[in-house]
Amino acid sequence: MNRVLAHTGAVYPIVQAPMGWIARAQLASAVCNAGGLGIIETSSGETEVCKAEILKMRDLTEAPFGVNLPILFLKDESMLRFICESGIGFVTTSAGSPAKFIGPLKAAGITVYHAVPTVDAAMKCVAAGVDGLVVEGAEGGGFKNPEEVSTLVLLQAIRRAVDVPLIAAGGIADGKGMAAAFALGAEGIQMGTRFVSCAESPVHMNYKQAILDAKETGTYVLNKKSTPCIRALKTERTAAIHEAGLMPPDTFQRILDLYFGGDMEAAVGLAGQSAGLIDAVKTAREIVEDTVAEFHAIAGRLGAMAGSKAFAV
Ligand SMILES: Cc1cc2nc3c(=O)[nH]c(=O)nc-3n(C[C@H](O)[C@H](O)[C@H](O)COP(=O)(O)O)c2cc1C
Repeated sequence: MNRVLAHTGAVYPIVQAPMGWIARAQLASAVCNAGGLGIIETSSGETEVCKAEILKMRDLTEAPFGVNLPILFLKDESMLRFICESGIGFVTTSAGSPAKFIGPLKAAGITVYHAVPTVDAAMKCVAAGVDGLVVEGAEGGGFKNPEEVSTLVLLQAIRRAVDVPLIAAGGIADGKGMAAAFALGAEGIQMGTRFVSCAESPVHMNYKQAILDAKETGTYVLNKKSTPCIRALKTERTAAIHEAGLMPPDTFQRILDLYFGGDMEAAVGLAGQSAGLIDAVKTAREIVEDTVAEFHAIAGRLGAMAGSKAFAV
């Protein structure tokens, strides 16, 4: 049995990443209705809006969905209490130690996975009682650990160190990435950048187009010497931050003008290196179904190689 499927209740072990303002009911329900697991964000800090989005999910899908709690960004315990009383079965935590959240979440019968960028963090989370881990390699978009470790190495290293189920994140945009992640020990994948550029994603077409246009070299890791360290699309603004080495404090002030107004210089467009693998806007259903079909085709090819003790079929 695939433990990520057992924990989430999804049809496929494909998770849509939590992403501030973007991972709301429109996108998450489309992913759930395609058989994946949609996650509602709370990192925007818009507590009441996010609660409404969680409630809206019940009208848009009958499938299970999850919620992300970015621990350091939560203003108070109101969202935690709401989730514990909401009947939601699956929560990912990120940004900070999950230790004090695990008790109340588990008491409410909720399965908890924490997002980690290192083996040390993985071991601490397992000791604290998480049910599983989201393993976030340096290729991924969004907030990053400045000590960059690729998904390829990080998954193997964490797989050696702990026994809990792993969801691989960072650099995965299709079934090839999913097959690679499973070969390294993952039981599920999480995609962020792929779902930003999905038909049901609420962001402006300029942001989706910038992802389609980006090469594999189309992102920068910024602000490595301060916090937060992020991976974002190359633009004039991010080139200046890259050059300066530090991110001005107002960098995210006009993020909504970028996300929803399409002004790609208004802030920084978070995205991962997987942008270089994405060349079309697809629906959530196409993304999920194409990923599953490609994953199984590759698994079949590898199985045939194993059967014939060969290195090609
Ligand atoms: C636009 C954007 C916003 C993100 N916001 C969050 C967030 O609010 N919370 C979080 O845990 N991760 C966030 N992430 C990271 C994703 O959860 C995920 O780990 C990452 O996107 C995976 O790599 P990929 O972009 O190559 O798919 C964000 C990523 C992107 C691209």
